[in-house]
Amino acid sequence: MEVLAADIGYGFTKVVSASRVRVYPSVVIPKLHTHITVDIDTGESPDIVSYGNTEYLYGSKAMRFGKKSQFPPRHRCFTQSNTYAVLLLSALSLVRNRNVYFVTGLPVSVYENEGIKTSYQEWVLNILRPHGAINIKVLPQAMGAYYDAVLDIQGKPIDKNLLMKKCAVVDIGYYTTDIVVLDHLDLIYRETIPLGVSIACEFLVQELSSQKEISMHEAEMLLRGEKLFICGKPVDVSNTIEAAKDRAWNLISTAVTDRIGRGEDFHFVIPVGGGAVLYRDKLAQLFKEAHFSHNPSLSNAYGYFKYGIRQIRKGSKDA
Ligand SMILES: Nc1ncnc2c1ncn2[C@@H]1O[C@H](COP(=O)(O)OP(=O)(O)OP(=O)(O)O)[C@@H](O)[C@H]1O
Ligand SMILES: [Mg+2]
Repeated sequence: MEVLAADIGYGFTKVVSASRVRVYPSVVIPKLHTHITVDIDTGESPDIVSYGNTEYLYGSKAMRFGKKSQFPPRHRCFTQSNTYAVLLLSALSLVRNRNVYFVTGLPVSVYENEGIKTSYQEWVLNILRPHGAINIKVLPQAMGAYYDAVLDIQGKPIDKNLLMKKCAVVDIGYYTTDIVVLDHLDLIYRETIPLGVSIACEFLVQELSSQKEISMHEAEMLLRGEKLFICGKPVDVSNTIEAAKDRAWNLISTAVTDRIGRGEDFHFVIPVGGGAVLYRDKLAQLFKEAHFSHNPSLSNAYGYFKYGIRQIRKGSKDA
C-alpha cells in the first residue's frame, strides 16, 4: 500500500508521496472544448483531470488561462465544491499504485463536527475509490505539522519526552490562521481565525491598481519576491510590498498573541503554513522557542504522510 498525503488549502495544494512532492495553486477551470496550443513539447505536465462529465485544468496552467481566474472564494462549502473534488483527483498524479492510503486534513473547527467529518470522508472516498484509494484518514489540519515535528520519516517518535511537552502549532495560511495547542498528546485548544496572507494580497491589488491591474495570484507572487513588470519593464514597488506585508502581519500577530501570548506557556511553538515562510523573522522574534521545520509551508502535508506511514507500519505489526 502506498501513502499519499494532500493538504488542500484555499491558496495552494500541497501533495506528498514516497517519491514526489508537488505544490500548485488551488485554481481549477473547466478545460476549453478546443484547446489550441503550439505543437512544441516543453515537458510540462498536462494538469488535466476529469470529474463528472467535464475535463478541468488545475494549478498554474489554470491560472494562466485568465487574469480573472482566482483562488477559490472563502466559503464554508469549499470542501464540497467541484474545485475541491478536482484538486483531490489531481493529487493522484503522484502515485501509480492502485492501492492508496490517502491522508488529508480538515480545518479544526470543521473537524470536530462529527456529522460534517463523516459526510466529508464518504464524499472523498466516493471520488477517490474508483481511482484506487482504498483507505482514507482525515486529521485536524494543523495536527499534520505536529506529526511532522515529532515523527521521523518512518513514522516513529523522534523523542518520546518531546511528546509530553505542551506546545502550540500556528498555521498561517492564505485565508485562515489555525492555532492548536497540545499537552501530553491531547489537543486542549483549537481555533480557526479568519485572517491570512490574502490580506496582504488584497492590499497590493488595491494599492497598485493605478499602475497596473493585477490578480490576487500576481500579488501573491510579488510577496514572494517576484518583480512587477509593466510593459515588460521591471518597476520598483518594494515599499508598497513591505506596507502590504506589515498590514497583514499586524492583524495576524495581534490575533495570535491575543490567544496564546508570546508562547510563554509552551515548551515550543511550531509556526507553519506559507505565512511562516513569509514572516519567518518576525515569528522568530515573537516566539522565543519557535521551532521551524525545514519547509514550513509543507509541514502539514509531510505530517499527514508520516502519519500514514505510521498507521501502515502499525497495521502490518498487528497482522
Ligand atoms: N515559499 C514561500 N515563500 C513566501 N511566501 C509563501 C511561500 N509559500 C507560501 N507563501 C505565502 O503564504 C500564503 C499561504 O500559503 P499556504 O500554502 O499556507 O496557504 P493555504 O494552506 O493554501 O491556505 P489556507 O490554510 O488558508 O487554506 C501564500 O498565499 C503565499 O502568499
Ligand atoms: Mg493551509
